[in-house]
Amino acid sequence: MENKTIYILAIESSCDDTSAAVLCNNKTLSNVVATQKIHEEYGGVVPELASRAHQQNIVPVVHQALAKANIDKKQLSAIAFTRGPGLMGSLLVGTSFAKSLSLGLDIPLIEVNHMQAHILSHFIEEENYKIPSFPFLAMTISGGHTQIVLVKDHFDMEILGESLDDAVGEAYDKSAKILGLPYPGGPLVDKYAQLGNAKAFPFPKPKVDGLNFSFSGLKTSILYFIQRETKNNPNFISENINDICASIQYTIINILMDKLKKAVKQTGIKQIAIGGGVSANSGIRQALQNAEDKWGWTTYIPKFEYCTDNAAMIGIVGYLKYKELNFVDQSVTAKARYVIE
Ligand code: KG4
Ligand code: ZN
Repeated sequence: MENKTIYILAIESSCDDTSAAVLCNNKTLSNVVATQKIHEEYGGVVPELASRAHQQNIVPVVHQALAKANIDKKQLSAIAFTRGPGLMGSLLVGTSFAKSLSLGLDIPLIEVNHMQAHILSHFIEEENYKIPSFPFLAMTISGGHTQIVLVKDHFDMEILGESLDDAVGEAYDKSAKILGLPYPGGPLVDKYAQLGNAKAFPFPKPKVDGLNFSFSGLKTSILYFIQRETKNNPNFISENINDICASIQYTIINILMDKLKKAVKQTGIKQIAIGGGVSANSGIRQALQNAEDKWGWTTYIPKFEYCTDNAAMIGIVGYLKYKELNFVDQSVTAKARYVIE
């Protein structure tokens, strides 16, 4: 098994990105992502529109991934797909496609937990990127999740804390919406934040016990602040967009870093990995880099293409499971709520 070359075709369709990737062992040969623009005008993901777009995208995206990898489907060793968590209609498209292709090609089928994949994306071999050793702490920060996970082994994980309400990506997107920015607003808040004064407008940090998070209070205080200020000055947002975004970003990064510091203290583990869409954020990337010098942490920050949803991260889990011959049969179904174990 060790010396065999394994080609995995991976499919991701849990939310609003249709993605397919081909991996040769632990290396990415191709990673094609079709991002659905249709949701922009609605200010958030519309589930029914997402499933329809996945239906349209899935065949061309898979063809592109195979072509870019220069791999014929007859060479594939297995198909890996996102089983959950995610939107049911979206998951169904990838799940049904993967099941059919596995049946048609008579090759094994591998189910993947999307959140585990965000964490295990660090095991994709890439030049200038190191691979974590166990145990390490992973903070998954996305549009649907905010978790601190103790990773004891590839498939032995324990959630130490998570958000009790909104996910951090949601906090970014909802703040952006209050500011009149289009969906997804996270990257835009990040862009403006880099030009502003982080101390301009102080926002309160929530008091949440242990390693759990809460972001709904922050969203409300931003809403009230903006309502108050725009009453006095209708141009308040446009005149202060950089400072507002910098202040929001500063508060969010502080919340995340405070909990990570607490997790390090509690576990004694100083190896920290991040994953999920918000790990593309310049503020969190910088804060983690600073933590290496300040507190002697070893940090693992994903390459940009592996931060937001992509199939390469599903593929690496496929490879790791393939080595353990951890396959599923045709009775497997999509799982909208799928907790990491
Ligand atoms: O992991 P992901 O692609 O999808 C989910 O599984 O949710 O994460 C998407 C989230 C969105 O909320 C988006 O606004 C946020 O990641 N995001 C960012 C940045 N890039 C993406 N948030 C803050 N700063 C960024 N640079
Ligand atoms: Zn994700």
